[in-house]
Amino acid sequence: MAIPGNHKEPQDLHVAIIMDGNGRWATRQGKPRFMGHQAGAERVREIVKVAPEYHISTLTLFAFSSDNWQRPTSEVEFLMRLFHSHLLSEIGECADNGIRLQFIGRRDRLNPALVTLMRQAEAKTAKGENLLLRAAVDYSSREAILQAAQRIRPNQPVSKKQFSRLLCGADPLHAAPADVDLLIRTGGEQRLSDFLLWECAYAELYFTHTFWPDFDKAALQKAMEEFHRRERRFGRVLQTIQT
Ligand code: FPP
Repeated sequence: MAIPGNHKEPQDLHVAIIMDGNGRWATRQGKPRFMGHQAGAERVREIVKVAPEYHISTLTLFAFSSDNWQRPTSEVEFLMRLFHSHLLSEIGECADNGIRLQFIGRRDRLNPALVTLMRQAEAKTAKGENLLLRAAVDYSSREAILQAAQRIRPNQPVSKKQFSRLLCGADPLHAAPADVDLLIRTGGEQRLSDFLLWECAYAELYFTHTFWPDFDKAALQKAMEEFHRRERRFGRVLQTIQT
């Protein structure tokens, strides 16, 4: 069976992940919360490495939401240091493995040294063709939609495709993001938490109780198998192809 008009190739999937449960993973083991984030960063490394095996061409990870600034200062500072050190150690490997890095979200509230590193990472990996890896840092989808709406010129009709382009801001390095095919949220909660609201219009949603630091290749495989069992109709009636 095929869905008429759904020409997306199976090797061209956009998967987005809300990596939740780091804190609870640590607390359950009697460890401080920061150790959960550390273990979470290791999982990022593993999942990025295996993503192309599952025909994922774009992977968008929710690293830090605009609401996460309300966490204790020590946790925020730890996370920012973790992003910096993780990025510093991974840029070379990303470039060598054809992984193109991009960041979405506000940059004006981040440490300037981190912003510089993010820019360098984007430039150094810009030619990567195996995987587009997008990290959402200080990201709020509603804020991104508001900003995009404000970029529309008065009396200028805008198509959905053009609006998607506006959503990535004015950065010429960023192409319009593809719609999300599968949104995974670990950690047991079943909500979108202001992540990719426009891009997830027709995303399949997958929620698992697994905490992010335990989300390994087998867990990704399970999510992908579930995704491929879903019947995506995009509002249409499913038709059997007559041969
Ligand atoms: C949510 O778990 C997780 C975060 C707010 C941070 C996500 C960061 C990482 C996975 C680390 C590294 C990321 C990159 C891109 C290098 P939580 O703290 O809300 O967990 P809880 O719900 O159990 O408290």
